[in-house]
Amino acid sequence: MASESFYITTPIYYVNAKPHLGHTYTTMVCDTMARYMRQRNREVFFLTGTDEHGDKIARSAEKAGLDYYTFATQNATAFRETWEKLHISFNDFIRTTEERHKKVVQTVLQKIYEKGDIYLSDYEGKYCFGCERYLTEKELTPEGNCPDHQVPPTPLKETNYFFKLQKYLPLLRKELEKNPELIFPNGYYRETLGAIDELIKLGEDLSISRPKKRLKWGIELPFDSDFVTYVWFDALLNYLTGIGYPKEDPFPRFWPQAHHVIAKDILKPHAIYWPCMLMAAELPLYKRLMVHGYWLGMDDLKMSKSLGNAAEPLSLAEKISEDGMRYFLLREMHFGQDARFSDNILEMRLNQDLANNLGNLIQRVLSMLKKYAPPRPNVLEHPLFSKIEGFLQQIKDNYHKAMADFQFHEALEEIMSLARFLNQQIEVYRPWDLAKKNDASLGPFLYILTKSIVVILIYLEPFLPNKSKEFLELLLEKKQRNFPESLHDIELKEKIPKSWPVFFNRLSLASS
Ligand code: MSP
Repeated sequence: MASESFYITTPIYYVNAKPHLGHTYTTMVCDTMARYMRQRNREVFFLTGTDEHGDKIARSAEKAGLDYYTFATQNATAFRETWEKLHISFNDFIRTTEERHKKVVQTVLQKIYEKGDIYLSDYEGKYCFGCERYLTEKELTPEGNCPDHQVPPTPLKETNYFFKLQKYLPLLRKELEKNPELIFPNGYYRETLGAIDELIKLGEDLSISRPKKRLKWGIELPFDSDFVTYVWFDALLNYLTGIGYPKEDPFPRFWPQAHHVIAKDILKPHAIYWPCMLMAAELPLYKRLMVHGYWLGMDDLKMSKSLGNAAEPLSLAEKISEDGMRYFLLREMHFGQDARFSDNILEMRLNQDLANNLGNLIQRVLSMLKKYAPPRPNVLEHPLFSKIEGFLQQIKDNYHKAMADFQFHEALEEIMSLARFLNQQIEVYRPWDLAKKNDASLGPFLYILTKSIVVILIYLEPFLPNKSKEFLELLLEKKQRNFPESLHDIELKEKIPKSWPVFFNRLSLASS
C-alpha cells in the first residue's frame, strides 16, 4: 500500500544576504518534521530554496558591483551549502531563476489573466523596497516608517497590472470560518481574519507587476512584455513548481498535504494573497500554514542581517555541535511565540538537558553495564518495568499530539521527563548496592534502563539525528524504524560495546 504523503516547505529565502539563525530555525523546523514523518513511514517531500528576483536583490547586486544572476547565484549557493553542511534533509532546492519556475509562473498568470482576474490600472502609494510592497497609512509607525525596516517608504506612481483580490477575499473568509485549523497557531488565524476585513474595507486589489523600465530583474508577464511579475506572485508559486506542477507527478500526491512553515513577518502574503491566488488558479488550498515567532537578538530586536544582531549558523554549530544547535532552537522557542537568543540561555539549556540529564543518564548506565557486567536476563522482571511501560503510553500520546501541532518544546519535554525519571530510579534502586550484594535484580534493572535509553534516543532522532544515530548504532541490533511503544519492541545488540563517545560535552560559553 502506498504510504500517506506529507509535503513541507520553508519560505524561499531572499538572496540579498547569507543565511542566519532565523532562517536556520525555520529550516530546522521543517527538517525535524520531515524526519519525524519519515520515521512514521510517511512519504515526505521537503522543499526549500531561494527567492531571487525583485528590487531588493537588484539593489544589493548593484551595490556589490555584480550582475543580478551572478550575485543571486553566490548567495543561493551559500544557502544550499549551509543546509547541506547542517544535514538538512531537503528533497529539492528551488531557485526562482530556474526555467522550470518561470514556466509555472507564466502558466498560472496566463490562466488567471484569461479568466479576467487580472487588469491594467494606475496606482499611487507608499512603497517599501524592503517589503517589496505598498504599505497602507495604518501600517506605518508614528514616525511614518515601515515597521519592519524602520525607514520611510518611497512615494511611487505607476501603471500596473492588478489581481482581483477583492473578488476572492469574501470567499477566503468563508473558507477560513469553515476551517480554523488552516492557519496555526490560532492567534495568527484571528489576525488573518482581521486583516481580510481591513482589506475588504480598503477595497483595493493587489498590484502584481512592475514596469520593466523601473525593474528588469523579474519574470516577464506572458501577456505584456513591458512588465515583470511582482516578486510575491513569483515567489509563492515556488510551492507548486517544487512538486512538478502542472505535471501529473508528484504534484497531485503532495499538494493536498502541503504544510507551509513561515515566521509572522510574511503572514499576509501566505495567509491572504496565496490562497486567493490558488482560488483564482482553481487549485485547492494548502493544508496548513504554520506560523512561528521571531528569534530576538541580545538587544531584544528581531534577528536580522541588517541589524547585525543575528548569529551565524555554521560557526554556532561548530561551537556547540550541530545537534546542540538543533536541540536548542527547537526546545527553547515555543512555536508561535518569540524567543530570545543569548549565550547564557544556550549554555543553561544545553548543559541542563543534554549534558546533565540525558548525557549523565547514558554515561551512568553504560558504565555500570560495563563495570558490573551482570548476566543478560531473559525476562525483564522488575517493578520498574511496568512503571516505564505506563510512562511510555503517556509519552507516546503526548509526544505525537505535540508534534502534530509543531509544539516541539512539549514533545522534547515529554522525552526529557522520562530521562529525569530514570535518573531518579538510579538513586532509588542504588545499583552499586545491588552489585555489592550480588542481587539478581541488577541485570533486569540495568537492561531496563538501557532499553529505555534506546527508546529516548529513537524519539529524539528527528531532533538529534547525528547523536541518536551514533548511539543507536552502538546499542541496537538493527536500525529500528518507527517509534517504539513498549520496551519489548527494543532488540539490544548481543554485545554492547565497552567504550562509547561522550554524549554531549558540557559547554562553558561565558569563558570561551
Ligand atoms: N523571500 C521571502 C519569502 C518568500 S516565500 C514564498 C522572504 N525571505 S526572507 O529571506 O526574508 O525570509 C523570511 C523568513 O526567514 C521568515 O519568515 C522566517 O522563516 C525566517 N526568519 C528570518 N529572520 C527570522 C527571525 N529573526 N526569527 C525567526 N525567523 C526568521 O521573506
